[in-house]
Amino acid sequence: MTKICCIGAGYVGGPTMAMIAYKCPNIDVHVVDINQARIDAWNSDVLPVYEPGLFEIVASRRGKNLKFSTCIDHAIREADIIFISVNTPTKTFGAGAGRAANLEFIERCARRIAEAAEGHKIVVEKSTLPVRTAEAVKRILSESSNGATFDVLSNPEFLAEGTAIEDLLDPDRVLIGGENPEAIEALVSVYAHWVDRSRILTTNLWSSELSKLTANAFLAQRVSSINAISALCEATEANVDEVAAAIGTDSRIGPKFLKASVGFGGSCFQKDILNLVYLCQHYGLHEVAEYWEQVVKMNDYQKSRFAQKMVKTMFNTVSGKRLAIWGFAFKKDTNDTRESAAIYVCRDLLRENAILNIYDPKVSDEQIRNDLRELMANGSGELSQLDRRLIDENIHVVESMQAAASGSHAVAVLTEWDEFKNADFERIYSQMQKPAFVFDGRNILDHKKLQQIGFEVHAIGKRV
Ligand code: NAD
Ligand code: UGA
Repeated sequence: MTKICCIGAGYVGGPTMAMIAYKCPNIDVHVVDINQARIDAWNSDVLPVYEPGLFEIVASRRGKNLKFSTCIDHAIREADIIFISVNTPTKTFGAGAGRAANLEFIERCARRIAEAAEGHKIVVEKSTLPVRTAEAVKRILSESSNGATFDVLSNPEFLAEGTAIEDLLDPDRVLIGGENPEAIEALVSVYAHWVDRSRILTTNLWSSELSKLTANAFLAQRVSSINAISALCEATEANVDEVAAAIGTDSRIGPKFLKASVGFGGSCFQKDILNLVYLCQHYGLHEVAEYWEQVVKMNDYQKSRFAQKMVKTMFNTVSGKRLAIWGFAFKKDTNDTRESAAIYVCRDLLRENAILNIYDPKVSDEQIRNDLRELMANGSGELSQLDRRLIDENIHVVESMQAAASGSHAVAVLTEWDEFKNADFERIYSQMQKPAFVFDGRNILDHKKLQQIGFEVHAIGKRV
């Protein structure tokens, strides 16, 4: 019986391993983490990660061939295949701060594997890593104290949050990079339990590592491209949804990932593009670095443009005005707020002294305040007295769309949760200050209907 261990029980490690356990009942899967609270949550009825369909899959295999624990060394010793799925955030200190990936967690895992392992192991990079990280991982492993031997593979994950289960069940492709054909085949045969072999691509290690950063850079570039055009649409009376539909019918461009928005968020796009920028600079490719950096700058512009437009529209002041913020997660169907555009928009509005009524179906009060504290402290760890007061006193996290809108001057839609489309806008309108504004940062609402009710509606990249 094959045994798999995965170090890192986060948004990737948890769902990916649950799917392997679900599809491969003959494989024992042990997910480990240093974070006891997270492991406890994986063993409970409220998983640490919200993803449609995830709970059912975890519940069906937990206690059978799927286990969550903090027994890292034990899991390493037992396993034939060890996935490393720890976080690789942007470095906040030292050389490359603000760009390079912080690889300390990866290195710590490699050292722990080297210490605990016996016999032969296949070590799989599941985390998103800068190209040539496997070189460092191999060197660290080769110093193993127990004489263990290793093959290192790269198997980046392409799932998107909110659709993780669909993406894992039916991936466009599985990518496996490596050197030893036997090790590659061992991992291919795991995925082949449910993925057609024609969709399992094998490459050299470096192509696999670089493909992951490249995929995210291309996806983010599309969003920044359509968002750049959304600004031009607003200036010219073109309609960005019509432009997106028109260019999307060209099969060379395609319809997906052309939804104009308040800006992309999530834990990966910005981090991975900045990492790519850093790599290019490292290799002396300054023009290439600048090219990709512009994708992130465009995204920063889109977020601040949205907040500025709100202020300008509401007679150049939101000071003391109550504003309803609908949605705080970086996209629908997830509880993840990392790099969510909402954090930036809320910061800008708070600094205009607005009062924010925030509602998100899956994000907690504590999470919202922590995100704002972190952003407003700007990496220094120190919040100014004013910012602290704004976060403590000007934010009200509420339990429903109605509660957020009641008494507000405006509703701003920052995440595209489905329930927002079905809100009782007549009732909401009656409870709001007049004129009542809607700023649809996701272009998901029925704007004509809102206008008929009496709202003044503003959308991304089109005049309503
Ligand atoms: P996460 O922060 O949700 O989870 C990482 C986990 O690793 C945490 O629970 C942390 O406690 C644990 N960890 C850190 N160091 C450890 C150590 N030394 N030993 C044991 N556990 C340790 O991160 P995530 O969102 O799951 O992302 C993981 C990696 O996958 C990143 O490189 C990310 O870029 C990549 N990725 C993420 C997504 C996504 O949708 N979130 C998709 C594809 C790829
Ligand atoms: C993204 C990629 O889609 C995954 O393939 C990849 O595995 C993952 O990053 C990763 O490496 O972590 P994710 O960040 O979970 O997945 O979510 P996306 O669906 O890509 O959305 C990212 C952001 O772009 C969201 O804020 C979303 O609202 C925004 N977006 C997306 C738009 O504004 N417009 C679009 O048309 C698409």
